[in-house]
Amino acid sequence: MIISKSFFIYFYFVSDSSYIRLPLVKNNFSMSALKTVTIAIDGYSSTGKSTLAKALAEHFGYVYIDTGAMYRAVSLYFLKMNIDIHDQKAVERALDDISLEFKYVEDKQIIHLNDEPVEKFIRTKKINNIVSPVAKISAVRKKMVALQRLMSEGKSVVMDGRDIGTVVFPHADLKFFMTSDLAVRVKRRYDELESKGHDTTLREVEKNLLERDRIDSTRADSPLKQAKDAILIDNTRLTRSDQLQLLIKQVDELIA
Ligand code: DC
Repeated sequence: MIISKSFFIYFYFVSDSSYIRLPLVKNNFSMSALKTVTIAIDGYSSTGKSTLAKALAEHFGYVYIDTGAMYRAVSLYFLKMNIDIHDQKAVERALDDISLEFKYVEDKQIIHLNDEPVEKFIRTKKINNIVSPVAKISAVRKKMVALQRLMSEGKSVVMDGRDIGTVVFPHADLKFFMTSDLAVRVKRRYDELESKGHDTTLREVEKNLLERDRIDSTRADSPLKQAKDAILIDNTRLTRSDQLQLLIKQVDELIA
């Protein structure tokens, strides 16, 4: 408190134009000096969580963590190394050999698996088909949750996934839970796959989404569900900009 007050006075005397910028300085400076902010965004597959989380993090200068990318990178490793996901010992051994890191490459956050950038390989049909069974494995979840908490230490973060508000950060400052009509989600994922040159059909995408939602919501360990204190966002009829404004308003209120 004292630090932010003296900061106020300093700016007030330095120049008039700085005084105009004071609300911005007050939010950024006093919040970061006092406390970090944790924002959890959970929800169903292809509801646009990552796009929104990334934009929100960018707006406030927070760190963005795409936890889905982490489960996808683990799935890629298992696939490449021919790990039988039903063999618990083999899974545990493989997990010991995995290191995951987010690095910035040309301003884009890219997930690295054992120091290799793998973003290009983790959003394929093959990975879409195995990632939910992989994310069901408790040993995998335990390692990912620990890593997610470590990555967030001492930082203000926006993290998106399935269990962020319920398991990873049950005491997050703000929680959102996203959903939208199935047809909208199918079209969104279909467009994403098509734009990357993957050959698929709407029917195939729908089948995969429904199956992933089923596995994610019914697994024994940290199933996908809305946290009691999460704000529900049904974005069926909301533009990206509507959604972003809605979330910005909530964060503004939190840090005001
Ligand atoms: O958000 P996404 O589609 O990239 O996530 C891929 C899969 O990873 C999804 O089917 C469920 C799983 N996942 C999870 O179980 N927990 C998370 N925190 C994030 C993703």
